[in-house]
Amino acid sequence: MTGYKQLGLVNTRAMFKKAMAGKYAIPAYNFNNMEQLQAIIQGCINSRSPVILQVSKGARKYANQILLQYMAQGAMEMIKASGVPVPVALHLDHGDSYELCVSCIESGFSSVMIDGSAHPYEKNVELTKKVVEFAHRHDVTVEGELGVLAGMEDEVHAETSHYTNPDDVEDFVKKTGVDSLAISIGTSHGAFKFKIKPGEPMPTLRFDILEEVERRIPGFPIVLHGASSVVKEYVDMINRYGGKMEGAVGIPEEQLRKAARSAVCKINIDSDGRLVITAIIRKVFAEDPKGFDPRNYLGPAREELMKLIERKNKDVLGSAGNI
Ligand code: G3H
Ligand code: 13P
Ligand code: ZN
Repeated sequence: MTGYKQLGLVNTRAMFKKAMAGKYAIPAYNFNNMEQLQAIIQGCINSRSPVILQVSKGARKYANQILLQYMAQGAMEMIKASGVPVPVALHLDHGDSYELCVSCIESGFSSVMIDGSAHPYEKNVELTKKVVEFAHRHDVTVEGELGVLAGMEDEVHAETSHYTNPDDVEDFVKKTGVDSLAISIGTSHGAFKFKIKPGEPMPTLRFDILEEVERRIPGFPIVLHGASSVVKEYVDMINRYGGKMEGAVGIPEEQLRKAARSAVCKINIDSDGRLVITAIIRKVFAEDPKGFDPRNYLGPAREELMKLIERKNKDVLGSAGNI
């Protein structure tokens, strides 16, 4: 077993306490490869922001679980060398079984999500509680989920969303012992979050549900999944250089900023990173059709992702300067 403390990582407990008091949210960025990890780390060093590095089940398979552990360790060494003490949690995103959570904890994760939201309530409680019992023995924090987000990824899929029922949250938190709770208030996974007809306004997240949840479990850390803003500049760039992403739309940044000031302590962002990388690579391919050195397209993509991360930490999450 490799404990996360050996790797220089932290769990999310102190991070969330500070974020709650400081009225900002910790960014949780997904990564699958070296360039994404470098961009996240350097972006958080530059903006002096704490960070949660998120790994999905699919990402773990893609990157190789052994390599991943050393990548996280390498990232911590990179931070040490920078002289900027960025706190980092390594988190399993959308864990779907007890066994996967245990395996991640045993290979250096400091935080895990057990997503039992697709199960009936009692089964979700039972599974989450079992993960919490194991995780807490190793001082690893656990995120649970109530309510279902719509959207599609490799390992996560739901056609329609179900908002979180505030009547359930107090009972769920008490019975399971989770450290944070993901709720469904209108966000969704992926780059097509809403279908908006021309002239129609952007829908608003259900802040009324969030407020009611806060009233039922005061001071408890809340998590927002599916919180990419799907930056128009990058969607346009993708479409300009041969992509087909018409109608891609995300959560307006002002709404995310408002959420970050509330009990929302963790905001998950994956699609925005994917869009930046795709946009820049498409542009380089179009402008330099003879190029074939991956550094010449992955490098600029990494640079742009780093800039996006710095901006999000400063202007959206409010986490910049909070190490
Ligand atoms: O919400 C899930 C994340 O965006 C990860 O997606 O399963 O395709 O790696 P993935
Ligand atoms: P986005 O698809 O909005 O980036 O959400 C990512 C996420 O929730 C990861 O768990
Ligand atoms: Zn998610």
